[in-house]
Amino acid sequence: MISKKMSGVINGQINAELYSSYLYLGMSTWFSEKSLSGFAGWMRAQAQEEMFHSMKMLDYLLERGGSVELEAIAKPVRHWSTPLEVIEETAAHEAKVTGLINDLVDVALEERDHAANIFLQWFVAEQVEEESSVGDVVEKMKMIGNDSAGMFAMDMEMGKRVFTPPEG
Ligand code: FEO
Repeated sequence: MISKKMSGVINGQINAELYSSYLYLGMSTWFSEKSLSGFAGWMRAQAQEEMFHSMKMLDYLLERGGSVELEAIAKPVRHWSTPLEVIEETAAHEAKVTGLINDLVDVALEERDHAANIFLQWFVAEQVEEESSVGDVVEKMKMIGNDSAGMFAMDMEMGKRVFTPPEG
């Protein structure tokens, strides 16, 4: 049976992943309003991925006999003025999530919960991939700057992303 502390922090992460999904959904609508449908699609896939993460946490908690308590999801604030700002916030947010996942691993180690530690390693690896892919988008957008032809091409490229639930 999972400890109360471990259960509590995973429960908190369910909410954090749901918030991430909500934040990215808000970003997706922002891009839609700016007629950047490729970016909007990329962000929607990002939102779906975060929903998948929250369900993965939730299912794990149920499997371990922990208690799931769904909390209110905070309202994401839309305050961006450029596409680069949105993507930079995404990168900063992912760095924050990496910190949260690392905190969960710390609790698993403190609690000597080896099963939770193994489960959380999937998220540790996922964060490396997430930070890398969004970092790549930030760099490309900085190169493009105010070049509208570049933005048009980037929008086309971003629109190719489709969310497919990862294995495991
Ligand atoms: Fe659930 Fe983008 O990390």
